[in-house]
Amino acid sequence: MTAVPDPEAPEGVDLERPNAARIYDWFLGGNANWAIDREFGERAVKTFPMVKNIARVGREFLGRGVQYLARNGIDQFLDLGSGVPTVGNVHEIAASVNPHARCVYVDNEPVAVAHSQILLEREGVADRHAVIQGDLRHPAEIWPRALDTGVLDPKRPIGLIMVGVLYFLGPDEPTAEIVQKYLSLLPSGSYFLSSHLTGEGVLAPDGESRDRIKEQYKESSTPFHLRTRAEFSEFFAGLELVEPGLVWLPQWHPEEFESKATARMAEDPSFAGSIGALGRKP
Ligand SMILES: C[S@@+](CC[C@H](N)C(=O)[O-])C[C@H]1O[C@@H](n2cnc3c(N)ncnc32)[C@H](O)[C@@H]1O
Repeated sequence: MTAVPDPEAPEGVDLERPNAARIYDWFLGGNANWAIDREFGERAVKTFPMVKNIARVGREFLGRGVQYLARNGIDQFLDLGSGVPTVGNVHEIAASVNPHARCVYVDNEPVAVAHSQILLEREGVADRHAVIQGDLRHPAEIWPRALDTGVLDPKRPIGLIMVGVLYFLGPDEPTAEIVQKYLSLLPSGSYFLSSHLTGEGVLAPDGESRDRIKEQYKESSTPFHLRTRAEFSEFFAGLELVEPGLVWLPQWHPEEFESKATARMAEDPSFAGSIGALGRKP
C-alpha cells in the first residue's frame, strides 16, 4: 500500500509503514491511526482474532498498576512508551486517586506525542503534566528532559512505567542496562512497573497464529522481540517485587480495577502472552 501524504499528520510521522503506537490505538478502538495501520490491524485480527483482547489486557494491567501505586502514595509518574492517549491514561487514573498527581509522558512516535499534547492542553495542568518526544533507549538524554519539564521532583519517589514497550528493543540492544540506568537515577522508594510479551509457557493452542503476528510486525517500523521470564526478571534486578511477583498479566491484582478483558482470560491467563511485575527500589 502506498501512503498518501496527509496534511493532518504531525511532522516527522512515518506513514510509509504501519507503526506500533497507531496499530495499538486501532486495536483499542481509537482514531489516531491511518489507512496503513488499519489495514495492518485488520490482517492481524484475521490471523489472530485474540489480538484486540490482548491489547486491552495490557492496557488494563497498566491501569491496575497505576491505581495500586497511587493508592500506595506514589504521586508522580514517568511513563516511557506511553502511546496514544486512550481509555485509562496514567494521569487520569492517578488523578482518580490523588487529584494532585503528576505525570510526564514520553513516546518516540509523533502521532502519540501530538495526541497527548492536545489532550493535556485540554485537560491537563501545565505544572503537573507534560509530554516529550524521545527514545527511551537514551536515559542520559530523556531523564534531564523529563526533569526540565518541572513536573517531577527527583528527590521524591517516582513511579517509572514501561508497559508494553520493552519488546520493541531488539535482542542486540542493552535493554536491561537501559532499565537499570533509569532505576539508578530514581530515589529510594520509587517503583518500576513493566510488562513484556513472552512465548515461554503460553498454553494457548494458537502458537502458529502468534508466530505469524510476530512475522507481520516485521513489515512495520516497530518489529517486536519476545523475552523469557528470566530475561524480563533481569530488568527488576535490585528491586523488591510487590506480591504476586512476576506473573501473567491477568494474574496481577485482578481485583484492583475493573478489568473486563482480563476477566475473560481468568481460565488460562497465559492467553495474554504477556507477563508483568511491579518492583520497589529499596
Ligand atoms: C503497545 S504501545 C503501549 C502504550 C502504553 N504504554 C500502554 O501500555 O497502553 C507501545 C508504545 O511504545 C512506543 N515506543 C516504542 N518504542 C519506543 C522507544 N524506543 N522509545 C519511546 N517510545 C517507544 C510506541 O510508539 C507506542 O506508543
